[in-house]
Amino acid sequence: MRDIKEFYEMWNIEELPEYMKILIKFADELIFEEISSILSDFKVKDPLVLDCGCGFGAFYKLTETFNTIYLDISLNMLKKFTMTEKKICGNILHLPFKDKTFDLILCINVLEHVDKSKALKEINRVLKDNGRVIVVVINKNCLFREEVFNDFRVFHKAMGVDDFISEFKVLKYTSTYFLPPIVKILPRSVLLKVLKPWKWIDKKLSKIFKGKGQFLIVELEKAKVRH
Ligand SMILES: C[S@@+](CC[C@H](N)C(=O)[O-])C[C@H]1O[C@@H](n2cnc3c(N)ncnc32)[C@H](O)[C@@H]1O
Repeated sequence: MRDIKEFYEMWNIEELPEYMKILIKFADELIFEEISSILSDFKVKDPLVLDCGCGFGAFYKLTETFNTIYLDISLNMLKKFTMTEKKICGNILHLPFKDKTFDLILCINVLEHVDKSKALKEINRVLKDNGRVIVVVINKNCLFREEVFNDFRVFHKAMGVDDFISEFKVLKYTSTYFLPPIVKILPRSVLLKVLKPWKWIDKKLSKIFKGKGQFLIVELEKAKVRH
């Protein structure tokens, strides 16, 4: 099992097997659509946004119209992210921001790699009282046991909705990506054919098996402190 930082410092999407590149792109499209739909209800004026663990900016289009800071622990990933100057190399476990700074925090496919309790505490700390968080994470309650990260052989720990309730109020959750792992053995052309109708199928499955897709998408609000 490889160390997280070392793994991402060496990350080069071009070196991945073809099926992985195709499936990552497909998963990102599904996740993008789900988050876009959540963001369509986000009405704060001139929000300050943090994309925490932004990687090479696969989800940049979600936040480009906001005043957004992009943070990642890996310089390699930040260098690959060519679109913005508002980038910070930093650790989600020690965020370099004051308390109650952000209106919205996105944390996409990061929490599975880190100490989730510490990371959630830090996200909570830098979030404004009425701020929102959108998290995407590998789902521990997914329908298929062999989940997408297995092939990377890097530390990751799947999560469930109940992992968020100590720090946050869960406003909404959904999940996406119901492709059975067996598709990875298909030749490229067949895999692409399977994926064409799959977005539609995936959306149906997500309604039938709520919360059972491989990626869990959760919208959170700061829990009110009880005195
Ligand atoms: C699976 S990638 C996701 C990147 C991006 N959010 C996306 O979905 O395309 C995980 C990212 O988390 C970053 N990361 C891992 N540990 C981190 C930490 N402790 N603090 C900040 N970023 C971290 C990695 O460098 C990597 O870019």
